[in-house]
Amino acid sequence: MAGFGRRRMNSIGESLAMTRPVRYTANEVMEAFSALPEAAAPAKEAPAPLPEKIKIPAPGDAIRAELLNRLDHIRNQVAPLLMEQINIEQAATLPRAELEKEIHPIVAEILQKLRITLNHAEQELVERMLVDDMVGLGPLEGLLARDDINDILVNGAGQVYVETGGKLQLSDVRFRDNEHVLQVATRIVAAVGRRVDQTQPLADARLADGSRVNVIVPPLSLKGPAISIRKFSRRAINLKQMARQGNVSPQMARVLEIASACRLNIIISGGTGSGKTTMMNAMSETIDHQERIITIEDAAELQLQQPHVLPLETRVANLEGKGEITMRDLVKNALRMRPDRIILGEVRGPEAVDMLQAMNTGHDGSMCTLHANTPREALTRLENMVNMANLNLPYAAIRRQIADSVNLIVQVNRMRDGVRRVIAVTEVAGMEGDVITTQDLFTFRFKAEDDDGKIVGEFVSTGLRPQFLPRAYYYGLDKALMEAIQSAQQEAAE
Ligand SMILES: Nc1ncnc2c1ncn2[C@@H]1O[C@H](COP(=O)(O)OP(=O)(O)OP(=O)(O)O)[C@@H](O)[C@H]1O
Ligand SMILES: [Mg+2]
Repeated sequence: MAGFGRRRMNSIGESLAMTRPVRYTANEVMEAFSALPEAAAPAKEAPAPLPEKIKIPAPGDAIRAELLNRLDHIRNQVAPLLMEQINIEQAATLPRAELEKEIHPIVAEILQKLRITLNHAEQELVERMLVDDMVGLGPLEGLLARDDINDILVNGAGQVYVETGGKLQLSDVRFRDNEHVLQVATRIVAAVGRRVDQTQPLADARLADGSRVNVIVPPLSLKGPAISIRKFSRRAINLKQMARQGNVSPQMARVLEIASACRLNIIISGGTGSGKTTMMNAMSETIDHQERIITIEDAAELQLQQPHVLPLETRVANLEGKGEITMRDLVKNALRMRPDRIILGEVRGPEAVDMLQAMNTGHDGSMCTLHANTPREALTRLENMVNMANLNLPYAAIRRQIADSVNLIVQVNRMRDGVRRVIAVTEVAGMEGDVITTQDLFTFRFKAEDDDGKIVGEFVSTGLRPQFLPRAYYYGLDKALMEAIQSAQQEAAE
């Protein structure tokens, strides 16, 4: 038996072993059931009835639910015995089909010991339920399958929130208990070779589909294990769609496209979940396919469409506190990899120094996101992050470096009505004395909230001539840029 076998579990496995009966919702069981080919038709060549024998009725049969309940009950009897014989952590790393194959003889033996006789289809269903508990994400599966959900936030067993349409809602999904949440959390992080427990209570991970996950468990989380999932968005949203959805005006979309195409250094600023990464993805669409792009993230989320993209990911320290590779290390390394552009998922620390250095040493066209509520605040944050590198640079020098490196700040905001809007497109103009000067090209003007709670307002162009016009000229995009600005002005005048 490859990978795991009849070894006794280690202590971690032990604490995670399923010792309590698992209750499936009727829907989950029905779904698993109808997926079984044998289940659809009454088994013709069913073995002779035995005392514990269960016949599978046709779909729609009144006693079907009762049967499923019974299989569920059998699963609950088998589960703890199965857990005693396998290493759950290792099992969780196996592909599903392999795991199903591996547990088959063990389950058969357990059933025999329990004097339960099942036919082939029934046993297969019980095995499937068992595997679901071992490798699936249990109660989260249904939420993960829904395309309208962006975030899934588990706050211990009794509270699972989801974000849909930009708004948080309490879902009706519940875990059995906190141990069940921990079991699912362990499974998620084990898949990327990490672990969570009392000594290692924090972990970042990624689901197989690319969704970003953070896990934090007691004693740090006081309400039981917490899992936060940013679901991988299957459909990338481009700037044109954003304009249709009212996230930006069509003219702003055009200006952002041009800004990215003519290799401005761009910062996308916004609060948590405001749409920074989505905006960066959208803006990256106009990057030339000839360019070599290196992306650096803590958990790879970017979905660049260009052929020559090399994604890099940071690494956390191991249990002995060794082996950490920081953003800083990766940015430095990226500079030796002949990038045409460097794209940083998020700057939040001293790597800001290296990012700025990259931006004004020939790697223009670089982009990054950062957490801030206004473009002005983004600049201050950047200044503070450079300071974290402990280079003892005077503030004036840091500001000069920022003013020389950053060209444009795109401020995104998830507004009260759940809609994400670009509330400022701001150019870094230069320095006046010790102060960085900026000029807004576009802003959002709030007017009112309508009866449905939707925000009414408009994107306004300030009509200022973009500082990057000469650069746009160099890329043959000056006319397009001025057209966009003028058209926004005309619209405002009407
Ligand atoms: N313009 C948009 N229209 C519809 N959905 C959007 C839009 N922008 C972002 N979203 C959705 O909102 C969620 C959060 O977006 P995103 O990951 O880009 O935010 P973020 O600011 O990068 O978050 P974080 O601070 O956690 O990194 C995603 O699920 C994304 O699909
Ligand atoms: Mg992000």
